[in-house]
Amino acid sequence: MKENNQQNDIKTNIHWYPGHMTKAKRQMQESIKLIDVIIELVDARVPLASRNPDIDELGKNKPRIIIMNKADMASDNENTKWKKYFEEKGFHVILTNAKTGQGVKSLKNQITEVCKEKIERDKRRGIKNRPIRGMVCGIPNVGKSTFINSVVGKSTAKTGNKPGVTRGNQWIKLNNQVELLDTPGILWPKFEDPKVGILLALCGGIKEDVLNVTELACYGITILSKQNSKILDLKYNINTVDILPNYDIINQSEILTFGEIVLDKIAESRKMLLKGGLHDINKAALMFLDDIRNAKFGGITFEIVEEINEE
Ligand code: G4P
Repeated sequence: MKENNQQNDIKTNIHWYPGHMTKAKRQMQESIKLIDVIIELVDARVPLASRNPDIDELGKNKPRIIIMNKADMASDNENTKWKKYFEEKGFHVILTNAKTGQGVKSLKNQITEVCKEKIERDKRRGIKNRPIRGMVCGIPNVGKSTFINSVVGKSTAKTGNKPGVTRGNQWIKLNNQVELLDTPGILWPKFEDPKVGILLALCGGIKEDVLNVTELACYGITILSKQNSKILDLKYNINTVDILPNYDIINQSEILTFGEIVLDKIAESRKMLLKGGLHDINKAALMFLDDIRNAKFGGITFEIVEEINEE
């Protein structure tokens, strides 16, 4: 019953997306003809949930660089595994922290490397000084603006509009060889899958009021505790040893039951009380979600490569 409620919560609250989605897709389809390389940003904590399902179709036959952004908020170990996962699929991968600029510098070299064939072809045809053109795309909140600002730095000149591109799109000249299209392709995640909504909400990619906070926290608690059964105990000074579920067979209603018991313990430990002395599990849920989104547990990756491979 609760599982259905969860799914309905997500579905009914995202009905405004399709109009935007169609427009963004159309804009990308128009621009893509002019593009030599697609630079796709994903959130390193949820590398699949933060991908747009249409990008493979839109970008087929184009070289692709996957930017695993917010790598600083994800687990180093999982970052390495996910990088390998994408590389095995034929993509080039860069781990970045767009906020500090870490990893961002290697983009220009990667673009040149990825477009080696095109550069050679141009040379053979006697075409000189034709820049490589890249388009940055990704779902909202993945860090596109921060990433572009970081790539661009201060020394950037914007060039004029080019024919064929939606008016207002600007080309940013990174150097003599590379230009980026500065209307980032804004795409939407695969919302029809409720798991995707949950994972993105945990990372702060969807506004809080889209989901029931207590239920969302229960999912987060289960994911975290499965990865490290002591992590919640240490952070909140609680004891969950005796109530840990069997993660291999846990179902939705057990996730909610387990999560609510943990939230109750957190509320008790942090003295979050309602009038009459009852534990305020809603307040505990909000604190937990804040902690998880602000990486207070250290680097956490919510999607694990091995689990994806098993599915
Ligand atoms: P968008 O254009 O794709 O929608 O995303 P945007 O750049 O606005 O970034 C969304 C949030 O993610 C921002 O935080 C931004 O600072 C943060 N962010 C982007 N890249 C990284 C990264 O690699 N690591 C970390 N830790 N954070 C990143 P905000 O809370 O909305 O704003 P603020 O904290 O910067 O004020």
